[in-house]
Amino acid sequence: MTGAKRVLVLGGTNFDIIVQAENFPEEHEKMRGDACAARPGGSAANTALGLVRQGCEVRLVSAVGDDALGRLCLDDLLDGGVDTSLVRVDTAKRTSMAIVISSGTGKRMMTFPGADRDPAFGAVTEADVRAVDHVHVVGVPTPRLGHVVALARGVGRTVSVEWNGRDMSGLAKGPGLNLMNADEAARLPGALPGDPAGTARRYAERLSGEVILTQGSGGALWASPSGALVCEPTTAVEPVDRTGGGDAFNAGVVAGWLFGEPPSACMRRGLDAALHVITKIGAHP
Ligand SMILES: Nc1ncnc2c1ncn2[C@@H]1O[C@H](COP(=O)(O)OP(=O)(O)OP(=O)(O)O)[C@@H](O)[C@H]1O
Ligand SMILES: [Mg+2]
Repeated sequence: MTGAKRVLVLGGTNFDIIVQAENFPEEHEKMRGDACAARPGGSAANTALGLVRQGCEVRLVSAVGDDALGRLCLDDLLDGGVDTSLVRVDTAKRTSMAIVISSGTGKRMMTFPGADRDPAFGAVTEADVRAVDHVHVVGVPTPRLGHVVALARGVGRTVSVEWNGRDMSGLAKGPGLNLMNADEAARLPGALPGDPAGTARRYAERLSGEVILTQGSGGALWASPSGALVCEPTTAVEPVDRTGGGDAFNAGVVAGWLFGEPPSACMRRGLDAALHVITKIGAHP
């Protein structure tokens, strides 16, 4: 297939409030942050914007509330070139939010779930799936999300799944990419203690799909069902704000893979995109 790769991204959109501080506050302590950003975010929205920057055509399936923050999120996506025609405006619930305290390598986050995106997943048709080359999924694996993934696999589309600390095996079987960080992989059922590469290989074989692990400043590794393993280092930095780093990495890896690049080049794209995001506060993917 030639031309830009078309990707359907399913998952969450929220409004982020990020404060950068030297430390995290103790009980009764009132701390002053060094910098603050209030901006649209959420893993699926960040990844969608990142994929556009990487040269893909992207349609997002998500939800926002019928409120000012939701409108900011939608405007941000449209400005960034994302097709928002499948983003549902939920009139019953407000836009989801995330509060983040970011301190160098540390990050504490609390999210407030709002607008319900499940009906947006339910509204995706086979024609919507046929209109794209690839489907990327991030978030809680609901039956409606599973239905879209099954539709995609049924018509021969590849699927990438961000695992985010959950066992996503149910959605992940078959050709495509599985993205997670090494700490999350270590907690998966059947993980090999102290052996991220072995765990990645085991899952790649079981799922018949590629497994890609990020290892913070240690770069990333890629295990294929054949048993092949590729490691890619990165430039270790002192992050300013890690919010969205994983999403930027995912966008780079997925785009590179859709363009037919080898694993090391895909990871290079992802790692460079992550460096760009984590060295600024509130940076765009
Ligand atoms: N200290 C660092 N130096 C260089 N790159 C880093 C550093 N910390 C994180 N990264 C990069 O940022 C990206 C995401 O970081 P990490 O591997 O910690 O995943 P994560 O915790 O799942 O991220 P997120 O919370 O955004 O999902 C990775 O691509 C990683 O290479
Ligand atoms: Mg992550």
